[in-house]
Amino acid sequence: HENNIKNLYRIHEMAQAFFHNCLTKTSYGKPGLLYLKKRGINNDIINLFHLGFAPPGWDKLSSAFIKRGINENLLLQVGLIVKKKTSGYYDRFRERIIIPIKDEKGRTVGFGARLIKDGQPKYLNSPETLLFNKRNLLFGLNESKKYIRQYDYAIIVEGYMDAIALASHNIANSVASLGTAFTAEQCKKILRYTSNIYFCYDGDSAGQNATLRALSIARGQHAAVKVILLPDGSKDPDEFLQKHDAAAFNKLIDNAVSFIDFHLHYIMQNIDYTSLEGKLKAVSFILPILSSIDNLVESNAYAVKVSQTLGIDETDLRNELQKYRKHSN
Ligand code: GTP
Ligand code: MN
Ligand code: MN
Ligand code: MN
Ligand code: MN
Repeated sequence: HENNIKNLYRIHEMAQAFFHNCLTKTSYGKPGLLYLKKRGINNDIINLFHLGFAPPGWDKLSSAFIKRGINENLLLQVGLIVKKKTSGYYDRFRERIIIPIKDEKGRTVGFGARLIKDGQPKYLNSPETLLFNKRNLLFGLNESKKYIRQYDYAIIVEGYMDAIALASHNIANSVASLGTAFTAEQCKKILRYTSNIYFCYDGDSAGQNATLRALSIARGQHAAVKVILLPDGSKDPDEFLQKHDAAAFNKLIDNAVSFIDFHLHYIMQNIDYTSLEGKLKAVSFILPILSSIDNLVESNAYAVKVSQTLGIDETDLRNELQKYRKHSN
């Protein structure tokens, strides 16, 4: 077992070097380099994250590795090769930008891989293995942890490319949660470095809903949370940074909204609260949130703000809040 784990680390290390070499030193890598340059990713960032490129063809990696005496079963186990229906194998990652995913000790434990052309699936990830457990990993933590500690907050984004774009703009304290679901395990990891978490997920409805869940998870772990709002016209932090500079993003950070303000923002974007029906919907959405604030002074202050925003009577809202608290206790 011990031996197997060692082999798993080793194979990831070798694969990372293979892909990185392909990107930076071979003619196969040219389209990959071109793609990264177009996205504004320079050599420093390529080297910092050890980005790579999977060559085209069905067996470039497997034939190279098998020549070097690597066991096929090991390659299968980590998902670098896939079994054919008939017989034999093919390389899982082909003609894709390779994004090594490391644990916080800097050991590569899996890969994300992005197409350089349009197509599906846009991203392909390593399968879950003994080492690669997505719930427990945050992309970029190894590179950002020292800055998270230094600045005393972490920015959580959805995509690898968002964390990479932020790092490219010298905003070095971000991590990506590998898709949209932020887990309690990931939160615990962050809390080792700071208690302040800023979420900056995509502005679409999937991102907004993921933000709601992430806020609830982070507050459950007693993190101090804020949400960085992107202006309309930028889907995610990467897109924002394609159009604007780091100073503009830093302004967004300064203007990050509180947990309750994000919920109000969510209501304003998703519920038509001008009608009575909408008001009721908005109230039932916000009551559990208000009641989750332990400090009564704070929750009452927010109740004022909520009633003003929704155009409902303040006393009515407070009464409803009291009723809700009684029922949920
Ligand atoms: P870019 O187009 O490269 O900027 O990607 P993005 O990060 O903006 O993509 P998106 O917002 O659609 O997705 C966010 C994250 O979800 C990605 O970084 C991936 O981790 C994951 N993801 C997106 N698309 C896929 C997919 O097709 N398959 C898998 N497995 N994961 C995906
Ligand atoms: Mn998204
Ligand atoms: Mn995105
Ligand atoms: Mn994007
Ligand atoms: Mn920019």
